[in-house]
Amino acid sequence: MKKIGVLTSGGDAPGMNACIRAIVRTGIYYGLKVYGVMDGYNGLIKNKFIPMGSSSVSNIIQRGGTILKTARSKEFFTKQGRQKAYENIIKHGLDGLVVIGGNGTFTGADVFINEFDFPIIGAPGTIDNDLYGTDLTIGYDTAINTVVEAVDKIRDTADSHDRLFFIEVMGRDAGFIALRSGIAVGAEDILVPETVTYIDELIEILERGFRKNKKSGIIIVAEGDDAGGAFDVARKVKEKFDYLETRVTILGHIQRGGSPSAYDRIIASTMGYAAVKALLEGRRGEMVGIINKDVAFTPFEKAIKHHKDIKRELLEMARVLSS
Ligand code: F6P
Repeated sequence: MKKIGVLTSGGDAPGMNACIRAIVRTGIYYGLKVYGVMDGYNGLIKNKFIPMGSSSVSNIIQRGGTILKTARSKEFFTKQGRQKAYENIIKHGLDGLVVIGGNGTFTGADVFINEFDFPIIGAPGTIDNDLYGTDLTIGYDTAINTVVEAVDKIRDTADSHDRLFFIEVMGRDAGFIALRSGIAVGAEDILVPETVTYIDELIEILERGFRKNKKSGIIIVAEGDDAGGAFDVARKVKEKFDYLETRVTILGHIQRGGSPSAYDRIIASTMGYAAVKALLEGRRGEMVGIINKDVAFTPFEKAIKHHKDIKRELLEMARVLSS
């Protein structure tokens, strides 16, 4: 193996830059030439390869976003697109590739490997933490800290005005961000896509709290919850609770930005280093992850197909602790 490439794909996540840095520096240390590919898989198709030296990744470990930019490439999901990508890979003489991203990224990588028998290793980068084969994904820790910081501020004003706030956090298909941030802010309840939301149950929880003299409250709603987004849930609660003042906050893309936490920098560096070493050892078609604090590899096929579930008992714990 003499030349490798690195790209970021899917939604960006704080810590992706730390991972790029680790991949570039590890590659160079072991005598490889490293190319950065811009704009995710689109850059493979459009031939956007840039040679990366050690200094090209200086001063990025602390920066959010991704210096390589990212995209959700539609073209890579066509046979023609992948063919163009392969031709450009061959043109640059790459022997391997590290892709940093989420489920869609690894699905694309898996198809590509099956078609062209080309070595690819994945590193999990998504704030959603919804990938099987790793306890944590790059960006998740920073995202929940961002949520906690924002909700603490909302709690101040909720308390001053005796208001009930419905706060929507990211998580189209998964409730990891909602669950952990909800516990950390002491939310009255946490609504996630993994469980059925019963508005009556939520109202019961709130009524119990108000009987105990609670005057304000925080409900965390994952964007993919089955009862709808935070606006829908707030409307349904308000129908039965019309004397209460309610407000809704959608935290949105603030959750995807910002300087990565120490923990994200550490796991991103560890995964980037391990990904390059894996390519050098002849591994391919696997996602590097961290399980029980150790580096672990999971075949793309398994990482894509298996569902990582939230710890449902923590939802009950959160209710008990906020009662
Ligand atoms: O995949 C991460 C994620 O942040 C999801 O939680 C969210 O639903 C989605 O990306 C939004 O992405 P975009 O705004 O890029 O379409």
